[in-house]
Formats: sequence, structure tokens, C-alpha cells
Amino acid sequence: MTTRASSRALVVPVDTGHQRYDILIGSGLLDAAETWQGLPRAAMALIVSNTAVAPRYAARLRSALAPHYGSVSVLELPDGEQFKDWPTLNLIFDRLLGDGADRQTVLFALGGGVVGDITGLAAALYMRGVPFVQVPTTLLAQVDSSVGGKTAINHPAGKNMIGAFYQPQRVVCDLDTLRTLPLRELRAGLAEVIKYGPIADAGFLDWIEAHLDDLLARDAGALGHAVRRSCEIKAWVVGQDERESGLRAILNFGHTFGHAIESGLGYGHWLHGEAVACGMVMAADLSARLDLVPADFAVRLKQLIQRAGLPVRGPALGADRYLELMRVDKKAQGGEIRFVLIEAPGRAVLRAAPDALVRDVLAVHCG
Ligand code: NAD
Ligand code: GLY
Repeated sequence: MTTRASSRALVVPVDTGHQRYDILIGSGLLDAAETWQGLPRAAMALIVSNTAVAPRYAARLRSALAPHYGSVSVLELPDGEQFKDWPTLNLIFDRLLGDGADRQTVLFALGGGVVGDITGLAAALYMRGVPFVQVPTTLLAQVDSSVGGKTAINHPAGKNMIGAFYQPQRVVCDLDTLRTLPLRELRAGLAEVIKYGPIADAGFLDWIEAHLDDLLARDAGALGHAVRRSCEIKAWVVGQDERESGLRAILNFGHTFGHAIESGLGYGHWLHGEAVACGMVMAADLSARLDLVPADFAVRLKQLIQRAGLPVRGPALGADRYLELMRVDKKAQGGEIRFVLIEAPGRAVLRAAPDALVRDVLAVHCG
């Protein structure tokens, strides 16, 4: 249940059964003393960020954390999806070991999903696990990647293939940080917001359609509602199925096609949210071709994605290459690709589809 912790923050709790933590959502959270109370204390804290985000926000976070830790330092990673890899992960370990960080050291992931995923993985692995806090600064990270404990780096053969489930101690979504986000990144984040409607909440899909212009104009009220409702849905899903043995897979609507686009083109060409958006168009069409939803639902979703300024046509990788890439997807079983499909607005299911139908979808939507 969402509550209000202070005049500034709404609180969405996440409870996985063995770990409970809060998502704080609001304006001015970065500088507010109460945001950082009640976290694990230690001699040392490390803010992991990147060359684009650290110059904007790291000094403020460092000042806010200073009263609570003996030393707070900042590590700036290179910026980009192409750096979500082993050598960059090692930069975090190099710094921690170089600074003599112990098992109590707390990591703060300040940035988008790339920083969040790689810092979370570093926290899971360093000395077999140190606490970490997510401080997401992109819309995508605030509505999705910072919540739920999936941490990972990419492998050239597949997206997010090396990772761990490792929950943060807290997630701090300061809505003010979204003001400096490039428009293309805001749109990419909207893809993951839109995702929650078809898979879990038909009313939220209606709301997004009605408020899309406000979201694109960065209206604070609209963004706050979008982040809050997205986090509520994500917390509800993760609370039932932390390790993705079933339900959690619905969060991957559009991702099977989307991950193929990302790894097929090489990481960093299309943004993750752009690939997911285009993947949702294809997955919705596949749902319609399997008679799960009426064809006009797929058209409706495509129109919304188009209005958000997101791509609805996939790159021309060739159907064989798409199928090859999708067989590496983590949801595949025994070489059989399984897709998240829509059964009704607000309800998703994981299932296989005949290759011939998938080829039809690729032929219509790619190239
Ligand atoms: P990103 O982390 O690359 O951030 C996008 C860009 O915006 C970067 O250049 C970044 O430096 C910049 N940026 C970040 N915050 C900014 C701000 N406030 N002002 C100005 N610039 C800012 O991309 P993303 O879309 O946040 O995350 C995508 C990643 O998240 C992918 O690797 C994807 O696989 C992962 N992801 C993970 C999960 C999960 O559950 N763990 C879920 C969804 C996506
Ligand atoms: N973004 C997919 C998940 O968290 O499961």
C-alpha cells in the first residue's frame, strides 16, 4: 500500500518475502536529510555514477550522505549501454579494493538503468555481497530497472546474460532529476510505463493515453503518478515472484523482440526503451494473430507508442537472425522461444508461438 512518509515522499513498499524495502518517490529527495535515514551505516560509501550524471548530481548526493559515513567517494563510469560489461564492472571492484572497502561498505547507484544494473551486480559480488541503494535518475530506471533486484551486465551473445537477483536497501526516485533527461531518454522511459497497462492495468493504459502529452511535457503531477503506479505494479509482481519462476516474466512484454534488436544491432544503437517499444508492437500483433486479443488492440497500442515518439518498425536484421537471437532469450526453454503475449487489456501470458507466425510478424514490422 502506498503511503506518504514525509511532506516530500510517497512510499511504495516492496516485500519479497525475505526482504522488505521502500521506494521513495517525490521532489527534492536528493537533498532531504530524511531520505537517507535508516540505511545501513558504514565507514565508507561509494557513489557509482557515470560521466553524464555525476557532474550534475554526485556532489549533492555526496553532501547528503556525508553525515552518515566516514568517507563518501564517487566513481564515474563511462556512459552507455556498450559499457555494461565485464571491464566496466571491474572498474568498480578496482576502486573498492584500492580503497580498502570492507563488507559494510554501502554502494549508491546514481544514474539510469545501466549504472543501476552494473552497480547492483557489483554489490552482489563484492565480498559475496554488500548493501546498495538505487538512486535512479532516468524515467526508465525510476519505473522499472531500480526496483526488483535484477542486476546484470551484457554479453555480446545476449542482453543481461550475466547477472544476479540482489535487492537494494532502498530506491530513491527524485522526480526533479528527470528535468535534465534528454527528450529521447524520456520517451524511452515512457515505453516501460506504457508496458504496465497492457500487462497489468487496463485503467492505467487509459490514463496514459489521456495524459501522454502531459508526460511528454514533463508535467510533475503526471510524471509522479506514472512513476508511482508503475512502481506499485512492479512491486506487486516482484512481491509474488522475485526469481521469475512464473508471473514476473510478464514484465518482459516486448522484450523478446526488443532484446534481439539491441543485441542484433550492437548495444548502444537503439535505446533499451526504444527496442522494447517496437517489441511491444510486434508482441501485440503476435497476440492478435494467435486470437488472444482483437486486432484493434494491437493497433491501439501501436498508435500510443507512435504518439510517444517511439519506433514502431524494427531494423532489417532478417527473420532468421531475429529467431536465432530470440532463442538466446532467458525465457526460452529447450530452444523454444516463449513470448509475453496479451490475453486481454491488463492481462498477459507467457507462451510459445509457431515460427511461421513469428516470421509473419517480422515481415510486417521490420525492415
Ligand atoms: P541509461 O542508464 O543508459 O541512461 C540513459 C542516458 O541518460 C545515459 O546517457 C545517462 O547517462 C543519461 N542520464 C541518466 N540520468 C540523467 C539525468 N537525470 N539527466 C541527464 N542525463 C541522464 O539507460 P536507461 O534507459 O536508464 O536504462 C537502460 C538499461 O536498464 C538497460 O541496460 C536495460 O537492460 C536495463 N533495465 C534493467 C531492468 C531491471 O529490472 N534491472 C529493467 C529495465 C531495463
Ligand atoms: N524488467 C523486467 C523485470 O524486472 O523483471
